[in-house]
Amino acid sequence: MFAIIGGTGLTQLSNLDVSRRQVVRTPYGEASGPLTFGAIRGVPVVFLARHGYGHTIAPHQVNYRANLWALKEQGVGDVVSVVSVGGIRADLGPGRIVVPHQIIDYTCGRMSTFFENEAPVKHIDFTEPYTGELRSRLLAAAKACGEAAVDGAVYAATQGPRLETAAEIDRLERDGADIVGMTGMPEAALAREIELAYAAIAVVVNHAAGRGASARGIRLREIDEVLKDAAGRVRKIIEGLVAA
Ligand code: HPA
Repeated sequence: MFAIIGGTGLTQLSNLDVSRRQVVRTPYGEASGPLTFGAIRGVPVVFLARHGYGHTIAPHQVNYRANLWALKEQGVGDVVSVVSVGGIRADLGPGRIVVPHQIIDYTCGRMSTFFENEAPVKHIDFTEPYTGELRSRLLAAAKACGEAAVDGAVYAATQGPRLETAAEIDRLERDGADIVGMTGMPEAALAREIELAYAAIAVVVNHAAGRGASARGIRLREIDEVLKDAAGRVRKIIEGLVAA
């Protein structure tokens, strides 16, 4: 079964034919909200709003472990994560949809593993943090519905909830990052730990701090406008992916 984890601007999937909602408790606590079960074009899908349905949970407070555990326990195999990001690379301006291929993790203090008190110590291979096959299917779905999704970008995961300074964005760029967001990690690593296929659709909602139209500050109100416009396009891609 497919799971969609919706980020800012995607707290529900309007094309999901909802059958039931279920609160799931896990050994790691409660997920961000009840799981919403339903179908898109007849294919079973479960949806979870990462920040809660009322958008009340900040990126550093999301219980990423409970969210992924709850999905796994319900029989999910494929997770598509929808995230909003700032664009660092000049061509990644507001409205662009990107399917990232790499991650650099700058978060700190988050519960970032399921592997506690394991003997012997467990490690995962994380060379390719996103599942290649699921990425390809996402890109094909985007292409099929006429969306020019960008294939590949390095996602910098920052701690938030504040946005970055201009100098921090310069540093992320020197590190090789193309886009910046606050929720990509530890979600991707946790998915790998419990063997969930995982890929992300990133919506660029602003130029990163100090870049382009954000040269003198990020206008937060404009982010909502971009998100509103992009949500429909993201839903179309998801629909294409699920129904393919
Ligand atoms: N930085 C970090 N996270 C974000 C941004 C940003 O500029 N835009 C949306 N999420």
